[in-house]
Amino acid sequence: MARRKIIAGNWKMNMTPSQAVALCDTLKDLVVTDEADVVYCVPAIDIIPVVEAVKGTNVEVGAENLYFEDKGAYTGEISAEMLVDAGVKYVIIGHSERRDYFKECDCLLNKKVKQALKAGLIPILCCGESLEQREMGVTMDWIRLQIKSDLTGVTADQVKGMVIAYEPIWAIGTGKTATTEQAQEVCKGIRDCIAEIYDTDTAQAVRIQYGGSVNAGNAAELFAQPDIDGGLVGGASLKADFGKIVNYK
Ligand code: 13P
Repeated sequence: MARRKIIAGNWKMNMTPSQAVALCDTLKDLVVTDEADVVYCVPAIDIIPVVEAVKGTNVEVGAENLYFEDKGAYTGEISAEMLVDAGVKYVIIGHSERRDYFKECDCLLNKKVKQALKAGLIPILCCGESLEQREMGVTMDWIRLQIKSDLTGVTADQVKGMVIAYEPIWAIGTGKTATTEQAQEVCKGIRDCIAEIYDTDTAQAVRIQYGGSVNAGNAAELFAQPDIDGGLVGGASLKADFGKIVNYK
């Protein structure tokens, strides 16, 4: 069974609420497609206006983070239930910026993945190696460790509905995309890892994105690879070019 492509924008800490609504308006006609799921992962404060702005379109909304507890005294955090109630369908978990700048470890990320799934959100679980790790030849060892730890206690059926994003840290925001071969090789490695932990059906069902300097010029070649089921797009998701990435064929 062919996997449906999923092309998601990760807006990161960009776009005020009014800018967010204006961007949705600019992109509205450009991101229309029957062939892929289109998602905007937006800052928490933009969620409600963006959900409203994309109503009646093919765009779905994602969050960039969540907390793993149900509710309570966790100042500044946002729960899965709040996201669901606001109309969010996806949530990015374990982006390298959260792992690095906010010291989120795999143990925490595992709790977040389970909490998202419990609430009915689809996690977009990120993984990826640093340049030093690639040069040392430990890319796949590192990514396998991330995947195995982050998915501890997650069932095969849950994994089938998830999205995993492979984002080499050295390719994020640098304009330096992984080569198509590098991206395909690691995405296949992730699928093989899922097959080992779970089974072939689960590995064939899970969608694996590539992220890291995806743009209108390189999307078609990347997304044509057998194990790359779309992209997680940073900078280029904030402009009209995102329409070209969504309609990459
Ligand atoms: P860029 O597309 O800006 O390199 O960012 C990639 C990314 O981090 C998406 O999550």
